[in-house]
Amino acid sequence: MAVERTLSIIKPDATRRSLTGQINARFEAAGLRIVAQRRLRLMRPQAERFYRVHAERSFFGELCESMCAGPVVVQVLEGENAIKRNRELMGATNPANAAPGTIRKDFGESIEANSVHGSDSSENAREEIGYFFAEIDIVG
Ligand code: CMP
Repeated sequence: MAVERTLSIIKPDATRRSLTGQINARFEAAGLRIVAQRRLRLMRPQAERFYRVHAERSFFGELCESMCAGPVVVQVLEGENAIKRNRELMGATNPANAAPGTIRKDFGESIEANSVHGSDSSENAREEIGYFFAEIDIVG
């Protein structure tokens, strides 16, 4: 199995409820190491750029608004099959459809306020990590 890196974002709905520690504990318990992490507040143009693949979707405006509603924690997770593993831990996009024991089932409030984002492919992981972190910020 390959050691991979993936970008994770703990969203404003989760930071507002002080869930960063609980979410990070799940990553670490599952063997994903947090090799870079920063708390920041996204400005609207930054959220729009990050989610630009969704620019034509009906939910784009609400998604960007919710991502700017409070601080986010952006992080790089590293481990075997990190991209798929993180997506399993997160669960389905809509918390209502997420499996029991997943982060979105346990913490998500709605499809936008679904507590976490994770890269969905190795190409997107590379691009999303590069959006927030320089190589020197990532300490494996
Ligand atoms: P995320 O993993 O951050 O990637 C895109 C986000 O768009 C997704 O999580 C959801 O929060 C949000 N979103 C809102 N509506 C939808 C939808 N109908 N389908 C997919 N994503 C949606």
